[in-house]
Amino acid sequence: MRDESHLPKALQGLRIPLIASPLFIISVPELVIAQCKAGIVGSFPALNAREGEGEHPLLDTWLTQIKEELDRHNQANPDTPAAPYAVNQIVHRSNGRLERDLEICVKHDVPIWITSLGARVEVNEAAHSCGGIVLHDIINNRFAQKAVEKGADGLVAVAAGAGGHAGQQSPFALMHEIREWFDGPVALSGSIATGESLLAARAMGADLGYTGSPFIATDEANADQAYKDMIVESGAEDIVYSSLFTGVWGNYLKGSVEAAGMDPDNLPMADASTMNFGSDREKPKAWKTIWGSGQGIGAIKSVGPAGAIVDRMAAEYAAAGKKLAAEFS
Ligand SMILES: Cc1cc2nc3c(=O)[nH]c(=O)nc-3n(C[C@H](O)[C@H](O)[C@H](O)COP(=O)(O)O)c2cc1C
Repeated sequence: MRDESHLPKALQGLRIPLIASPLFIISVPELVIAQCKAGIVGSFPALNAREGEGEHPLLDTWLTQIKEELDRHNQANPDTPAAPYAVNQIVHRSNGRLERDLEICVKHDVPIWITSLGARVEVNEAAHSCGGIVLHDIINNRFAQKAVEKGADGLVAVAAGAGGHAGQQSPFALMHEIREWFDGPVALSGSIATGESLLAARAMGADLGYTGSPFIATDEANADQAYKDMIVESGAEDIVYSSLFTGVWGNYLKGSVEAAGMDPDNLPMADASTMNFGSDREKPKAWKTIWGSGQGIGAIKSVGPAGAIVDRMAAEYAAAGKKLAAEFS
């Protein structure tokens, strides 16, 4: 039995202690619903719900759809209810729709809020006003302390090898430093693609794993077939760490950089002032042609349903746990 008494309710009772992380462009309601039905927290960035000027907010439509689908599932499957969902807010000054998105999330009582690129008291207050919890995304201990000071309930520790805007620290070092002072919920990320890695994250002191890249190679993901195939065909050495594409250091597939006519082993650095999450940003083009991925994708052997990844990781997690437990019995 997992001791989950210290965790907020929204993070208890998952099939395995795992959050499917938000993926820009890729995480759409179909994927989130599949992840939640499979028993892990599914998530998406609010910014993925893009609508034209004057249209009804697509975020509102998506949240209604996700809640209705999960309610239907729970009524039909009371013994295996869906896990809760999470919405990711990019808390960067260039995100001009943040305030509107917060209002929509409060209206829908979003249970888990994942915040990235800036910790802000008012975002945490908005989440708490509707009974939600906030997990803030950090890459080092200093940012972790700041996030908790500003009212985050828990942390997502983004260690080396994670997809997208990854940190550079070893997960062992980062988890240890955080656990020296923080006993609240921590999800650990960075190349967790197997049940064995998830168990290792738990052994290091993380309450949950946080996994993104494997879900790119799924039927439900909003990604080009060539992107999904490249995830299947690539391994850790096919990943390049660069600040060029968004102004923030992150991990990308070398194959996509080459396809865009650049040499992945000789990329220039970018200026952080180029970061832009406004509606006028050109970066989606970068994310559309330069494909993000963490180093853990060697474990991904085919494109298939998201639920199959959860099934595989659950089986591996249980087997690895039993094997290690035998050592201590
Ligand atoms: C293609 C891609 C897009 C991402 N987009 C976002 C995003 O919009 N917001 C966010 O907080 N994190 C984003 N991330 C980071 C992930 O949420 C997560 O930290 C990371 O995927 C975990 O590492 P893993 O891919 O090795 O599992 C993205 C990652 C990838 C690979």
